Amino acid sequence: MYSVLRNLLFSLDAERSHDLSLKFLQASQHNLLKRLYAQSLPDKPVEIFGLRFKNPLGLAAGLDKNGECIDAFAAMGFGFIEVGTVTPRPQPGNEKPRLFRLPESAAIINRMGFNNKGVDYLVERVRDAEYQGVLGINIGKNKTTAEENALDDYLICLDKVYAHAGYVTINISSPNTPGLRNLQYGEALDSLLRGLKQAQQRLSDQHGRYVPILVKIAPDLKDEEIVDIARSLTQAGMDGVIATNTTLDRSKVTGQPHAEEAGGLSGSPLTQASLLVTQKLSKALDGAMPIVGVGGIDSAVTAKARIAAGSPLIQIYSSLIYQGPKLIREIVEAL
Ligand SMILES: Cc1cc2nc3c(=O)[nH]c(=O)nc-3n(C[C@H](O)[C@H](O)[C@H](O)COP(=O)(O)O)c2cc1C
Repeated sequence: MYSVLRNLLFSLDAERSHDLSLKFLQASQHNLLKRLYAQSLPDKPVEIFGLRFKNPLGLAAGLDKNGECIDAFAAMGFGFIEVGTVTPRPQPGNEKPRLFRLPESAAIINRMGFNNKGVDYLVERVRDAEYQGVLGINIGKNKTTAEENALDDYLICLDKVYAHAGYVTINISSPNTPGLRNLQYGEALDSLLRGLKQAQQRLSDQHGRYVPILVKIAPDLKDEEIVDIARSLTQAGMDGVIATNTTLDRSKVTGQPHAEEAGGLSGSPLTQASLLVTQKLSKALDGAMPIVGVGGIDSAVTAKARIAAGSPLIQIYSSLIYQGPKLIREIVEAL
C-alpha cells in the first residue's frame, strides 16, 4: 500500500509531500485512521542508558522536528522516537527549495536549517502525547546565536526539555547551520561538554532523575578526529553518542539530478561511511559509552551489520521515506 501512496507523494515537491504526510499523521494518530499505518511488532527489548527500549530501532531526528506526530510514529512500531532538532526560539530555516530526492540512490539532500516552532511548542506537544516509550529530544542552536554563545542555546533547551525527555541529544553535526560543526573539535567541544555536564548534574538533583545526554556527530571526520571526539566525550562524562548525521560527500551520487545541491546527503549512499564511523568510534570508545547507529540503514541486513559494528541501538529516516512503515517490521522482526 505504501508504494501506491509513495507514487502519489513522490509526484509532489519533496517538502510539500513531507508537510502533507506529517499533517495526515498528526490528524490521524488519535483516531481509527491510524490503522492505515499502525502495526504490532514483536517486543525485542534492550536496556541501555538505564532505559528500556521496546526494540532497538528508533526514528531519527529531523522528521518530527516539532514533536507533533509522536503517537503516530509510536504506532508504526518504533522502539524509540527522537524529536527535534529544536532551538530556543522558533525559526523559519533556510529558503525553499531546501529538500531534494535522489531516487536512483534512495537518498535525500536537505538544507532545512533547523526550521522549527521553538522549544516551548515542542514541550507542549510532548505533554499532549500518549506515548510511554523512550523519547529522545534533540536540541540545537538558533541560527542568529553566535557560535561562541552556542552553549547558552543548548542550556536553554536542556532546561526546558529535561523533565520530558528519556534522553537528550546535542546536535553539533548539522551541516546547515553555519559554524555548528566547528563545535565538534578541540576546546570548543570540551567547553560545550563541560557546561552541559554541569547543567545535567544540577537538573538531575533538581528533578530527582538522571537524563542521559548523547552527542550527535557527523560522518565527515578523519580517523584522528574520531579518536579526539571519543576522548572528549569520555572525559566529559557524556552518556552516549549518535553516529551519524548527513554527509557533505557527494562521491556516491555524482551526476544524478540534484546531486550538487548544497546540504546534507542521507540514505543509502551513507551506509558505508556511517558504518565505518561506528566501527572506528566503537574501537576508540572501547566500551566507555553506547553508540546509536544511524545513516543509510535501509534493510534488515544493514541494520544487523550496524548493530554488529558496535551500536546496540539504531535509527532510520531516509529509508522510511522510500520504503514506508513495512521496513520497520522487516528490521524489527529480523533482529
Ligand atoms: C530532511 C532531513 C532533516 C533532518 N533534520 C535533522 C535534524 O533536525 N536534526 C538531526 O540531528 N538530524 C537531522 N537529520 C539527519 C537524520 O537524523 C539522520 O542522521 C541522517 O538522515 C542519516 O540517516 P538516514 O540515512 O537514515 O536518513 C535530518 C535528515 C533529513 C533527511
